[in-house]
Amino acid sequence: MIDQATIERILEAAPIETVIGEYVNLKRRGANYVACCPFHNEKTPSFTVSPSKGIFKCFGCGKAGNVIRFIMEHEQLSYVEAIKFLGNKFNIPVQDKEETPGEAETRLRRDSMMVVNAYAQEFYSHYLWDEPAGRDVGLSYLRERGLTEVVIRQFQLGFAPPGKNLFTQAALNAGYKQDLLTATGLTIHYPAQDNKPEVLHDRFQDRVMFPIHSLSGRIIGFGGRTLRNDKQTAKYVNSPESEIYNKSRSLYGIFFAKQHITKLQKCYLVEGYTDVISLFQAGIRNVVASSGTSLTGEQIRLIKRFTQHVTVLYDGDDAGIKASLRGIDMLLEEGLQVKVVRFPEGEDPDSYARTHNARETIDFLESNETDFIHFKIALMAGEMKDPLKRSSLIREVIASIAVVPDAITRTIYIEECSRHLDIEEVILTREVTQIRKKRKEQERYTGRPGIKPVRDPVPEEESQAQPVAPGKDDLSRCEKDILYYLIKFGQTPMDDVTVSEYIENALAEDELELRDPFYARIFNEYKGLRGDDSARRKYFINHPDPDVSQHILDLLNNPHPINLKVLRDSLPLEESLLKEHVTKSVLVYKLNIVSGTCSQLTRDLQQAQMLGEEENMQKIVKDLMVMMDVRNSFAKELNRL
Ligand code: CTP
Ligand code: MN
Repeated sequence: MIDQATIERILEAAPIETVIGEYVNLKRRGANYVACCPFHNEKTPSFTVSPSKGIFKCFGCGKAGNVIRFIMEHEQLSYVEAIKFLGNKFNIPVQDKEETPGEAETRLRRDSMMVVNAYAQEFYSHYLWDEPAGRDVGLSYLRERGLTEVVIRQFQLGFAPPGKNLFTQAALNAGYKQDLLTATGLTIHYPAQDNKPEVLHDRFQDRVMFPIHSLSGRIIGFGGRTLRNDKQTAKYVNSPESEIYNKSRSLYGIFFAKQHITKLQKCYLVEGYTDVISLFQAGIRNVVASSGTSLTGEQIRLIKRFTQHVTVLYDGDDAGIKASLRGIDMLLEEGLQVKVVRFPEGEDPDSYARTHNARETIDFLESNETDFIHFKIALMAGEMKDPLKRSSLIREVIASIAVVPDAITRTIYIEECSRHLDIEEVILTREVTQIRKKRKEQERYTGRPGIKPVRDPVPEEESQAQPVAPGKDDLSRCEKDILYYLIKFGQTPMDDVTVSEYIENALAEDELELRDPFYARIFNEYKGLRGDDSARRKYFINHPDPDVSQHILDLLNNPHPINLKVLRDSLPLEESLLKEHVTKSVLVYKLNIVSGTCSQLTRDLQQAQMLGEEENMQKIVKDLMVMMDVRNSFAKELNRL
């Protein structure tokens, strides 16, 4: 983390128009500057820079942010890296927040491990290029596979010599500590046993080496492929998980692909190291691999930092594909647009790219791309004749459609599904709605009455971390609405209080807190601030946590108020109009909560009835009456407005 004061110094020293002006050709227009957007292709300029607000915004592709965000996007740097980049440029010393001795130790150790890995990569590459044995075996193998010198060097491929410990000996002689060699997994330590002395062996022996890079290009692990064909030898040996290598968070190729993914707004997902490299060589550079493991949520979120569009490249037979379909549903659940390309029987991306030229490969990918749900429906439709399987297949497809967050997209899929599977749309819609409803309620309420919603227990690991993103259900949308008025008009008077005081009181009245931890955190921070609306807005736009900064910008740029008319313009503003908006959004929020509580109580009642719990039933009925009264009074008030 970098402290707020440093960030402020950088924002002062690095005027946004100066920084952006170095990358794009800015033309003055009134108080602002415009240009053609560097983040998407366009002919007429819709990219705007506002020096007074310190932000840029593209009306074409929607990218927006402050100067730090611009550098992050343009240079493909992390938040901290972007700050250091600007600090360097404008001579502002940037220091990470005071580290505890423990943190410093961890950082140093991780750093040392990556240094050891870098040494290993050089060792393996040196062996591949400069040792006759390496050239004869390793290099000629890679050449036979059709890889050029350029990509072999770019991906820093290498060869681990045969023999038990050539690498380990070299590393120890070069002064690297044994403890780091074993921590990275490069060396395996067998302790002394029954008169036999301890030994150190190389993990990778006689293998082609694929370094695995972090997002910022440092080496966190290796995969080593054997060139033998016997069954006893594992095809790949991989680095173990370590302090620097977390398999479920890494994607092979992401360092090389990230800028292309951003530029092309699309990410190809393949299975193996060789698929990534071959496609890269064919000019398809927006490609990453999950490296043989099934896709994890963390990997998906990593992709999502760069694009919403993922195309999964499949080889293999129907059975293999079906087995992996569920995993792909996770992509849908994260709100990504998922497409699929299927390779001909017996071909994978690597073999295809090797036997076709670059143009043919690109054409193949483009013309064979199908929407994931269409793909799944078609795959299922083939088996629909089997009456025993029919209903479970339909369920499969419906379940996939139900996870799609966007309603319009869902409708399109339902139409499609209805046509292919020959089931009435209404039936499908009802099923999908039911699944969604069930899930939403499970997420939202834990089942105790009271207007105050109960927060789900936060898993141990996550409870330490700050919430990074708001949810997407109705309640979250209401909260987003409230937050919009707070950030935009919080210090504006409304009757005899300010908007922020009004909201605070209205929530306190019913003992409510914003349920979404992300919003609650922003609200709490807001209460501690001083200054007028524009000063507070600036604070959030330049917030030290880039997630907060980004969400506030999104919120201000794309409000989704429940009220139809959006209060887009700042002051002067008709006070009565503002009052109506704020009151309404708070009421809708409360109504939403009470309605949720009512449906939960109704379900509790049904359950109690089923179990014959007389006493409990009476209690629930009483609660329910109270809640329904509350709901009606809120609804009445809303009608009056
Ligand atoms: N993999 C692994 N361990 C294995 C087999 C596979 O870790 N024993 C992972 C590797 O990341 C590999 C990916 O799964 O890249 C895909 O496996 P496969 O298609 O068998 O390997 P390729 O890399 O495509 O190798 P090749 O084309 O040389 O057969
Ligand atoms: Mn392969």
